[in-house]
Amino acid sequence: MASPQVDTDPIVSILNQIQQRGHSAYTIFEDWVDLMLYALQRRDDPYLEIVDEYNEARDMDHSQGERTMDLFANAFGQLQKQMADTDADILGAVYEEYGMSSDNFGQHFTPHNVCEMLVEITHTVDDQPRDDGTQRAVTDPACGSGRMLLCGGRRLPEAVFVGQDKDPLCAKMTALNLCFFNLDGYAILGDSLTLEYRRVWQTTHSPRGGAVRELDDEQIQTLRDNLAPEDDTDASEEKSEPAKLVAKTGSVPDDTATEQQSLTVFQTEDI
Ligand SMILES: C[S@@+](CC[C@H](N)C(=O)[O-])C[C@H]1O[C@@H](n2cnc3c(N)ncnc32)[C@H](O)[C@@H]1O
Repeated sequence: MASPQVDTDPIVSILNQIQQRGHSAYTIFEDWVDLMLYALQRRDDPYLEIVDEYNEARDMDHSQGERTMDLFANAFGQLQKQMADTDADILGAVYEEYGMSSDNFGQHFTPHNVCEMLVEITHTVDDQPRDDGTQRAVTDPACGSGRMLLCGGRRLPEAVFVGQDKDPLCAKMTALNLCFFNLDGYAILGDSLTLEYRRVWQTTHSPRGGAVRELDDEQIQTLRDNLAPEDDTDASEEKSEPAKLVAKTGSVPDDTATEQQSLTVFQTEDI
């Protein structure tokens, strides 16, 4: 697939418009991400807390359609349109472009065409659905906006995608992206090197579109147990099968009727 032509200008210019009203670039991007994530989870209270911060008297001087919350909504509409047009990680691209002048951003993700090439190179197993009811897992322990996982999702849409990042904004972008692209997965906030799990969002695929929810502590512990490498492998076995990671048991409890439970026993392919 040719690398998509990503045009972040329409979204960046909307976010710039908000910035001119006296908010920092980082706060605006963070609030935009949080607003989308809370809206998708139908979590009204934290959503309204952010809305209140922008609903100052001065903001009401703007005409309807030009108020800050309208601009955030426009940026979301543009994001959806661009994702539909390009099938690409627009959110991560906006993060890169919009944050250029901010000390708090300052990082870049793997270009889309390189992600696609890496997925081609590492995709060594057959991509036929399994007949034993298990899901393959594709993992990225330093996932950024989750772009590499999204590329993997084109080749293995039936897999479960596990992204981890120690940066909260990156973990949240991954959660949004997995949901937008209707993939089963987990976005873990925490340091991969210390196996830290601070927060986890689960995304679930459905014919009506993706869903996302944040796991509670008990569910996070269950996920950790499921993702833990088996410790009964001896060193020689580890050497012969370095990428194999087997979930021990069962499932993450699911309390939302519309969401599918997804994690069972699986085997990973690291990309
Ligand atoms: C250059 S980005 C790459 C993102 C993504 N894999 C890609 O290819 O686009 C590196 C990411 O690794 C994350 N990171 C670095 N060290 C980490 C660690 N120990 N645990 C989790 N994430 C880490 C950073 O926060 C950053 O988002």
